Amino acid sequence: MMNKINPKGLLRWIAFVSFLGAGTFIAKAQTITIPIETKQNAMVLQVTPEKYLETVYFGNKLSDKNEYSAIAGSYRYNLTTSDYNSAYTTSGSLNLLEPAISVTHADGNKSLDLKYVNHTITKLTDDISLVSINLKDSVYDFEVTLNYQTYFNENVTEQWSVIQHHEKHDVVLNKYASANLYLRAGSYWLKHFHGDWAKEMRPEEEQLTHGIKTLDTKLGSRADLFQPPVFMVSLNEQSTEDEGEVLCGNLEWSSNYRIDLEVDPSNNLRLIAGINNYASDYVLKPGIEFTTPKFVYTLSDKGKGEASRNLQTWARKYKIVDGEGPRLTLLNNWESTFFDFNEDRLAGILKDTKTLGVDLFLLDDGWFGNKYPRNDDHAGLGDWEVNKAKLPDGIAFLTKTAQADGVKFGIWVEPEMVNPKSELYEKHPDWIVKQPQRPEYYMRNQLVLDLTNPKVQEFVFGIVDNLLTKNPDLAYIKWDCNSIMYNANSAYEGHQSNFYTDYVFALYKILDRLRAKYPKMPMMLCSGGGGRVDYGALKYFTEYWPSDNTDPVERIFIQWEYSYFYPALASSNQVTNWGKEPLKFRTDVAMMGKLGFDIVVGKLTPDELTFCQQAVKTYKQFSEAIWHGDQYRLQNPRENDVASIMYVDTLKSTGIMFNYLVNNRYGVGSNLPIRLKGLEPDKMYAISEINLFPGTKSSIPDGTYTGRFLITVGVNPDVKDGRTSVLIGIEEKK
Ligand code: DGJ
Repeated sequence: MMNKINPKGLLRWIAFVSFLGAGTFIAKAQTITIPIETKQNAMVLQVTPEKYLETVYFGNKLSDKNEYSAIAGSYRYNLTTSDYNSAYTTSGSLNLLEPAISVTHADGNKSLDLKYVNHTITKLTDDISLVSINLKDSVYDFEVTLNYQTYFNENVTEQWSVIQHHEKHDVVLNKYASANLYLRAGSYWLKHFHGDWAKEMRPEEEQLTHGIKTLDTKLGSRADLFQPPVFMVSLNEQSTEDEGEVLCGNLEWSSNYRIDLEVDPSNNLRLIAGINNYASDYVLKPGIEFTTPKFVYTLSDKGKGEASRNLQTWARKYKIVDGEGPRLTLLNNWESTFFDFNEDRLAGILKDTKTLGVDLFLLDDGWFGNKYPRNDDHAGLGDWEVNKAKLPDGIAFLTKTAQADGVKFGIWVEPEMVNPKSELYEKHPDWIVKQPQRPEYYMRNQLVLDLTNPKVQEFVFGIVDNLLTKNPDLAYIKWDCNSIMYNANSAYEGHQSNFYTDYVFALYKILDRLRAKYPKMPMMLCSGGGGRVDYGALKYFTEYWPSDNTDPVERIFIQWEYSYFYPALASSNQVTNWGKEPLKFRTDVAMMGKLGFDIVVGKLTPDELTFCQQAVKTYKQFSEAIWHGDQYRLQNPRENDVASIMYVDTLKSTGIMFNYLVNNRYGVGSNLPIRLKGLEPDKMYAISEINLFPGTKSSIPDGTYTGRFLITVGVNPDVKDGRTSVLIGIEEKK
């Protein structure tokens, strides 16, 4: 016979024997079962007789709650070694698996064994509930509270941990995950993303095999440059847009993260998500609570489409700033002027903003620095005084001119960074992240400021606060972050290994302060493109910049993948001169999110200008569906010659369908009708092509159809060479 020793089983047996020896009678211990439910799903946790907290189920919920306690027996999770289904895997004692938490106690001991103490369930609103479960070590005064905040109607859960100890001295957290999930399926398919500058969100999907696959980043500030903290896991088979079980997750952390996915020997999936412990052993003082970032996820049994709509709805309602509010269309000057502008040129662009019909002009990089003027990206970063040569009358002149033109005014900042060629660098060398004994190393000629230093926090807060206080008419901020963190080291932080983590806490502290003072100010989260997009940061922003790559064909792919995690109103899109596609194509693609332009309006032909003006109006007409409606992906650009996507408002009365030719081969186009989704089968809808370029006629007839027809048969947008981008308006006929 094989030697099968489960250390916990052995303990259970010992406990049972000693209990009998005591000669006392206790009725069979009652199993504590904790179901954590949303409208669709349940995660079921159970406390073993030895008080270990285990995950016994995660899937469709049951109608009879009493049946949850029978799940564990059906699945038989117990393995010969450790507890693979621990709800928060410890290390150094009985568990010998990849841990969720690993510590070094004040006395140097490295063992942790957490047992269930109690739990509370709090209904925070009709929709939101919080389950908090307290776990404690029996030897050391060390505890963890696991939190599960559910958003019932959205089928979304946010999970995080609060770690605390009362040992005599500091404890070191060697790993401190937010969540430790356990899923059961026949096979697991991981969809994850990689990229680089201008190459964001390139997907890969593969079957997970036994062992650990880790998604992570170690880049610090512009952390997601190569890999963002988002992923999907399909259960049993690769889920499609509308079929299959799929988990969609995002770690709400704007820096180094680590997500371990381990298929265990029983074919279950252990998933551990949290801050990356790389170079980040966290020194925790007694009595201080360490709150991990939240890991947000949704589970759908109707494919990736529904999962993404769950997250999008949740984000609009609960996470993104003013997610249920409107967005400002804008004209940006980055690509039309770069650093080369002055008051006259900007006054002209302000007039163009009005002519175009958008709401706001966004002044980008290059408006500051005097001793070291910001005339290119080598100098001036950190010196946030208006450049007197370019803008002698200051920002106030620009906001006033904008007001006179009837448009709003916004401005770019990059407050976390500094050029070595700057007064800030000269004055405060100790404010900069660098290794004292090593040469400086730059990305885009700049370094990162040490936000852990309270003086730097004050400075960074002040950059935005001063702008807004001195210019109360400022209506928009673009917050950029262009460098990753080389030579991570702080002149301020007592424990260097706390630095990566404390940097992000400090960033959030600054943003918390700004949001307390300016709760609804529209702010764009930018990081040299999409180098920092996650819900930890988006909690403070109204939108994000997906990529510097605005080639519309590329953008179809990039925006498509982002949309699995983020709602369209948060995607800042701009019409630029990137790519070879006509202006209409570029504009149509930008309309699939938050519309903006970065072009020289004066160079547009009269027809092009008329088209853009009309497009802004059309966009506003359909913005309710795009911003706050439901998004349905109809044809994937990676699998079809024609990509198609639609949005329909929550009343299911107004919709818009976007169609693009994404293949240049001879004769390709939309040969078959494309089936619409999300409409009411029994309603009547008028269909017509919209956003036509002046002088062109639609090749598809207007018509009125039942929702059932449009869902079952569909619409052929007649996309082909010469009609490479086609928008269709859908209006309910009453
Ligand atoms: C990088 C951003 O992604 C661009 O949009 C632009 O703002 C530049 N930085 C300015 O330096």
